[in-house]
Amino acid sequence: MIVGIPKETFPGENRVAIVPATVPSLQKAGFIVHLESGAGLDAGFPDKLYEDQGAVISDRAEVFEKANVLLQIRAVGTNPETDSNDIGALKEGQIVIGLIDALTNVDAVKSLAASKVKSFALELVPRITRAQAMDVLSSQANLAGYKATLIAADSMPRIFPMMMTAAGTITPARVLVIGAGVAGLQAIATANRLGSIVSAYDIRPAVKEQVQSLGAKFVELELETSEAEDKGGYAKAMDEEFYKKQRELMAKVVAENDAVISTAAIPGKKAPILITEEMVAGMKPGSVIVDLAAESGGNCEATVAGETVFKDGVKIIGPVNVPSSVPYHASQMYAKNIANLLLLMVKDEELNIDLEDEILKESLVTDGGNVVNDRVKESLSL
Ligand code: NAI
Repeated sequence: MIVGIPKETFPGENRVAIVPATVPSLQKAGFIVHLESGAGLDAGFPDKLYEDQGAVISDRAEVFEKANVLLQIRAVGTNPETDSNDIGALKEGQIVIGLIDALTNVDAVKSLAASKVKSFALELVPRITRAQAMDVLSSQANLAGYKATLIAADSMPRIFPMMMTAAGTITPARVLVIGAGVAGLQAIATANRLGSIVSAYDIRPAVKEQVQSLGAKFVELELETSEAEDKGGYAKAMDEEFYKKQRELMAKVVAENDAVISTAAIPGKKAPILITEEMVAGMKPGSVIVDLAAESGGNCEATVAGETVFKDGVKIIGPVNVPSSVPYHASQMYAKNIANLLLLMVKDEELNIDLEDEILKESLVTDGGNVVNDRVKESLSL
């Protein structure tokens, strides 16, 4: 069995799907690891470190040609600018594992289906206890939450902690985190460590205790949220009436804070708008919004993905692919996740994909020329 790791081509993507420390676990399972030369460089892992672990350094064509399994951050098909060669290089029956954005990226899903590969989307791995070690959404969101707080701290004209000095006393910054999932909870913890006063809000009532356990205040809004969580633990999309009421209630809270970090997302859907331009106008000049939902449309009306905009003296930052800004640790965690998923497909040193296993069943997107995943078919109306 040969596993291939091509260099990522997506603009701004610095991560690599496998790090040197993960190579031995793949070899132990019976894989020979082929890495495209330079694939790990941007993440801080030169070829030599992979070679030291027994990986074979190859060119891109050879990686695609030889691999039974391709391991990627962004699966082939997700990069419309440069993927046409790679799509042509895929072989029928080859296994492709990576992030596909399968619930929204119809072109990627169609090109993978047309290539007749078996593609697995890491973002579709179910959030069940047994799959925690394969959960890239969590491992990467954790880093994004940490980094979002650093971006906020670094972008403000004021500091986070309280300081009592001979030159006077500085009061701590107030930070509001909207959406306390994996990223939000890490943003709270990081803002706390930096000495700010943190409060947070989420529509899933279960989150209150988690927020409080991190030393932050849970913002109570008079909203009916008992139906806000689905059976998978995710937030459900609410109707526009709900979001309107939420914005009204939140306007005052937003205005009281120096930094707002927003992470509110609904899987496979556009992020809800929770901060209107009017709410931005109500914030103090010099305040900052870091909108981690920028890639899925943004929680703030004024957010532009990948850019920083100024409105009424408020800085609104819409960072994209935040985990890629800490590629060393993001790759380290991703590699562990993807290797664990791959090892689930191996029995006695042979590939053996048991589609009775819900982890594999729910993450398989295409097989034999067809889109085989019901959730993907429904989301893309295929
Ligand atoms: P996410 O990235 O989909 O959304 C981020 C947060 O935004 C969520 O907490 C969501 O409730 C919140 N949100 C959505 N709409 C909102 C609104 N209008 N106002 C305020 N907040 C809003 O969520 P993430 O971080 O991926 O976690 C989702 C769930 O998955 C959580 O219940 C988490 O506990 C669960 N989970 C389970 C795991 C496991 O058991 N293996 C691992 C990781 C997460």
